[in-house]
Amino acid sequence: MGLLSFFNKELAMDLGTANSIVIYNGQVVIDEPSVVALDKRTNKIIAVGMKAKEMEGRYSSDILETVRPLKNGVIADFEMAQHLIRELIGMTNVNRTILPPSLRMVICIPSGITNVEEKAVRESAQQAGAKEIRMIHEPMAAAIGIGIDVLKPEGHMIVDIGGGTAEIAVISLGGIVCSNSVRVAGDAFNENIMEYMRTNHSMVIGLRTAEEVKINVGSALSQLDNEPEDYCTLGRDLVTGLPKQIYISYKEMAHALGSSITRIEQAILDTLSATPPELAADIFRTGIFLAGGGSQLRGLDKRIAAKTNLEVHIADDPLRAVARGTGIALKNFDRFQFLIR
Ligand SMILES: Nc1ncnc2c1ncn2[C@@H]1O[C@H](COP(=O)(O)OP(=O)(O)OP(=O)(O)O)[C@@H](O)[C@H]1O
Ligand SMILES: [Mg+2]
Repeated sequence: MGLLSFFNKELAMDLGTANSIVIYNGQVVIDEPSVVALDKRTNKIIAVGMKAKEMEGRYSSDILETVRPLKNGVIADFEMAQHLIRELIGMTNVNRTILPPSLRMVICIPSGITNVEEKAVRESAQQAGAKEIRMIHEPMAAAIGIGIDVLKPEGHMIVDIGGGTAEIAVISLGGIVCSNSVRVAGDAFNENIMEYMRTNHSMVIGLRTAEEVKINVGSALSQLDNEPEDYCTLGRDLVTGLPKQIYISYKEMAHALGSSITRIEQAILDTLSATPPELAADIFRTGIFLAGGGSQLRGLDKRIAAKTNLEVHIADDPLRAVARGTGIALKNFDRFQFLIR
């Protein structure tokens, strides 16, 4: 390692609504939930990431508050986002040398981000110690992470279903030709599940339980080849107020999540109809690529394939595709420079 590279540290960061990932030297060094826990009496940050997530809903709200600084892919709480970014950088240990290195960061941002929102990301990273900050659009990063040659004159459709947003983009020649973003993704699925339990089973469940139900029996289709076993769900009876348990089937989940998935499908159809014909012809051959944690919902790929009559591929390790692409763009800065603002 040359002296210059010792003092010039480079990090790639996918700051997500649900999870934040940091890549250093081509390796994922941090992968933590985007949660900050705050002691309300002293206003001090007491935990970040998984530790903070474990505290969610388990403490009196007078003592402790857990905050998710991002909503729908963008910073909703500026101060907490700054803490989150600073702590994530701190966890990598790269900024802890005797002389502070000059830290260069590439952060990915949603394609539909406003100037104000983009400024919030930039300022948060600056306040957290980054000296040089570049941004890359998430669908572009996802495409690079999937292994698509984004610089080729060939159309590809990327659908990134994260926690806060589903982003759809058609990419060709290193640019986003058309895109669409809906605020319906993993978080909305969890809310749908909570609402379903309340109205159909008179049962209140917490966010963490909704997430468990989604992972265990979540489904986009009411008929699956590999049927998961019914899931024992614990919560509180709405009428008696007593704790109770109910077994939930994936068929019920397909019903609960149906209308949210229809909204994502509609956004995909809208994007396809806005795609120039030559690129649409390419997509007919190449199909649709899914990334993001939400793409792992059972049967979602099949449902989208049936709706669009296109082949649908799920990225390898879809939760990390965007981060991986951001890291590759950082590493090949010269080649991808024009993609990075
Ligand atoms: N097996 C699974 N089935 C369904 N959903 C899943 C699964 N695994 C993870 N998820 C969901 O994926 C979401 C997180 O995905 P991801 O990390 O890509 O989002 P993010 O990048 O943080 O969010 P955004 O891109 O919207 O800012 C969560 O809502 C999580 O519940
Ligand atoms: Mg994401």
